Amino acid sequence: MIVQYDKKYKDQIVNLGRQYDLNFESKYLIDIYKKYLYIDNQNVLGFLIIEETVDESNVILLYVDKNNRRKKIASYLMDYFISEIDNSKPRILLEVSENNNAAIYLYDKFGFKVINVRKKYYSDGSNALVMERMVLHE
Ligand SMILES: CC(C)(COP(=O)(O)OP(=O)(O)OC[C@H]1O[C@@H](n2cnc3c(N)ncnc32)[C@H](O)[C@@H]1OP(=O)(O)O)[C@@H](O)C(=O)NCCC(=O)NCCS
Repeated sequence: MIVQYDKKYKDQIVNLGRQYDLNFESKYLIDIYKKYLYIDNQNVLGFLIIEETVDESNVILLYVDKNNRRKKIASYLMDYFISEIDNSKPRILLEVSENNNAAIYLYDKFGFKVINVRKKYYSDGSNALVMERMVLHE
């Protein structure tokens, strides 16, 4: 089941987010971001954090619990988010490390195309791929 963030899930999403970044709460659990949660039996197993600007959406972070990967959880989250995209704002943008094969395969499957490379963007010196997809619903 996918739901939008609610305070009752705060402890769980913070615990999960800390698998990714110890400062998850202050960096990502921000009011202005839209947050989709994947819930199974009351457990938060993944989340998708989106920033909406006036003319586009940015994928800030897509994350799935380490013990629950390759079960299509990220795909469900992306499908849900894409289904909610409004035709008046079809552009989705994201950044991903060129070393993050799992995420690149996933975004590729979802029709994202590389439109730019940001050199040495991450702290480990790796480049960021900027990927884009336009979504227009019938
Ligand atoms: C990237 C991530 C979100 C994928 O989550 P997931 O729930 O395991 O992904 P899904 O099961 O929906 O996978 C969908 C497709 O993505 C690709 N994919 C996902 N994980 C992969 C891996 N480890 N290796 C290769 N391809 C992978 C595959 O094409 C897969 O389809 P398939 O299973 O039919 O082959 C997860 O690995 C994760 O949380 N990684 C750490 C955080 C991160 O890097 N986020 C992205 C940057 S913002």
